[in-house]
Amino acid sequence: MSKDHLQPTLSQKIQALQGGAETSFTRMVRLAAGTPNLITLGRGDPDLPTPSHIVEAAVGALQTGHVNYTPPPGLITLREAIAEKMANERNLIYDPNTEIIVTAGAQEAISVVMQTLLDPGDEVLLPDPYYTAYEMATGLAFGTVVRIPTYAENDFEVQPEAIEAAITPRSRLLVLVSPNNPTGGVISREALQRIAEIAQRHNLIVVSDELYERIVFDGATAPSIATLPGMRERTIIISGFSKTYCMTGFRVGYLAGPTALMTALQEPHHIFTICAPTASQYAALAALQGSQDCVDEIVGIFGKRRQTLMESLHSAGVPFPHPAGAFFVFADIRATGMTSSAFAEELLQKESVLVFPGTQYGPCGEGFLRISYLAEIPDIERAVEKLQRVYRTATGN
Ligand SMILES: Cc1ncc(COP(=O)(O)O)c(C=O)c1O
Repeated sequence: MSKDHLQPTLSQKIQALQGGAETSFTRMVRLAAGTPNLITLGRGDPDLPTPSHIVEAAVGALQTGHVNYTPPPGLITLREAIAEKMANERNLIYDPNTEIIVTAGAQEAISVVMQTLLDPGDEVLLPDPYYTAYEMATGLAFGTVVRIPTYAENDFEVQPEAIEAAITPRSRLLVLVSPNNPTGGVISREALQRIAEIAQRHNLIVVSDELYERIVFDGATAPSIATLPGMRERTIIISGFSKTYCMTGFRVGYLAGPTALMTALQEPHHIFTICAPTASQYAALAALQGSQDCVDEIVGIFGKRRQTLMESLHSAGVPFPHPAGAFFVFADIRATGMTSSAFAEELLQKESVLVFPGTQYGPCGEGFLRISYLAEIPDIERAVEKLQRVYRTATGN
């Protein structure tokens, strides 16, 4: 059966969301396929191996017969370890029995939240640029995204007054992603304090995506809004194991929040996946119970690459907002006068370097490129030389 034949059977919702067009992500990946000697600084998928004790825990779990479903909210031992980690690292106390749900990656958690908390037309306040899944998951739940523009001049930090200005009687959720994908920015404690006051004044629930919480540099911190007075009761934390432990393919994330909200999220999570993959849950448990030296090592390697990328871009004369965390630099190519997609496609086709156009992450990404530093240092250096060629040709320098 041809794709065209299937088209009328798609829901109006999915047709409206996708508009039938290829997404920027799919287009870039398609164009990159088969490119010889491609340097890929595109996807946010760490190239480093998963620490061996974590892999061994998954293999061991399978070999010892842990091949069945776990309880839907996850192995209780894993939920206890997550609760302990949150208490130790954030001073946040969650009951592992009722306030933590293990999910199939943070990605599932995003959809579970939207499906559970949104009625048609409810508004989700989403700082732009944003991690695209928030937009799609909101649409799939018949919610409405209200973009909060952010700007390079403030390192793309969301401004509390911009949030307040966008609030309407339909505002329900506020999404904060810190450290941020795609900009690498973090939200300061001062800004969070002002945002917390707004959330309480307008009765918003905050979805705090802390997936990159451990990946911060040069002494930066990315505090959790849930730690601020009055906020634990109205915050749902989304986090996971993919980035910190280089475990993207294991598919383990989690939700943490007050009992009333977590109870509501249980059944949609059950319907989506029943439970996160069992062997992967044992791996996640090993990640939390084992030595955290591997995290220091992984973040240390990311840090060196980040330094190289920042220095190379600086010498190339390409500006960028401060990337305090995650593993992205949001390079500013506005001086070229080219659109983000035109620049990214030219860089790919002429120079065999894959980065993603900033507009893939919302309109405020126009004029920027998301460069992920998930490659060896010599490749990062070569990629920036190539990027500089396109940049110089366009700017005439
Ligand atoms: C901000 C953010 N949230 C959630 C996810 C989903 O991560 P995972 O499902 O691998 O835990 C990603 C992945 O890139 C992300 O960048």
